[in-house]
Amino acid sequence: MMTKEEFTTLRDFVYEKTGIFFAENKLYLLESRLTNRLNELGLSSFEDYYYSLKYTSDKGKNEIANLFDVVTTNETSFFRNPPQLEAFKVVVQKHYLNGNSMTNPIKIWSAACSTGEEPYTLAIMLEELIQTMKQNIPYMIYATDISQKVLESAKRAVFNQYSIRNTDDSLRKKYFVEENNMFKLHEKAKKNVKIDFLNFMDDNAYRAYKQMDLIFCRNVLIYFDEKVKKKVIENLYECLKPKGFLIIGHAESLHNISRAFKPLVFPGTIVYQKG
Ligand SMILES: C[S@@+](CC[C@H](N)C(=O)[O-])C[C@H]1O[C@@H](n2cnc3c(N)ncnc32)[C@H](O)[C@@H]1O
Repeated sequence: MMTKEEFTTLRDFVYEKTGIFFAENKLYLLESRLTNRLNELGLSSFEDYYYSLKYTSDKGKNEIANLFDVVTTNETSFFRNPPQLEAFKVVVQKHYLNGNSMTNPIKIWSAACSTGEEPYTLAIMLEELIQTMKQNIPYMIYATDISQKVLESAKRAVFNQYSIRNTDDSLRKKYFVEENNMFKLHEKAKKNVKIDFLNFMDDNAYRAYKQMDLIFCRNVLIYFDEKVKKKVIENLYECLKPKGFLIIGHAESLHNISRAFKPLVFPGTIVYQKG
């Protein structure tokens, strides 16, 4: 059983390291997520687990990676929230494919990419645009997350039926190879996707992601409090090119978080432009 004191100590530790905030009524949730870690390490109390996180040097570091895996919620799927993807397509067509030949690649960042469905959806959409427009569209998609487990899975790029449930049959046939009821992504949708670790809490880490044309930061702000949301959005703002675009989750908002962006209204969604 996790005591109230253990909950507060571990909750504060998780918040400091990840920005994820477990409210007072989430004791059982945190307990159930950490119980496996305790069992695996052969520890008998959550207090001991806290000390193993805080004071074990090398081992502790690895355990922090395990902690990141278990405290994060990684729900995602291909072609999640079509109105946002339609808006993405319109933005790309209007602002980047305007008849001029492109020399610089479009730089897109899927921040909090989970198991890769979001960045690979964007890659498939761009590959389709390249085909229909008969124009070479150089692009690079950066995909980052705090959980090593999901990043490994994103690199494997083999997905189950549930994950591709909203993918058109024609795209499914074109971009996936079916093997034992699993769907392996084709190299052409992987080649321009670069996957790496990034923790939003690490202000220095954003430096590697400068001059982005578009940033997707969907369905992660909901786990943060206002202070962390502000910090993350400020950092993402700095990573965008002037007039670059930010897309956050459909249930998320920049209200009270930032006034620096211009909201552009699209059918069923809003895209934020650095202004
Ligand atoms: C629900 S998933 C969203 C995936 C995808 N963006 C989507 O909308 O389908 C949230 C992701 O945010 C990641 N995450 C949580 N806290 C983070 C942090 N501090 N830094 C980076 N990623 C974080 C989690 O590991 C998880 O994979």
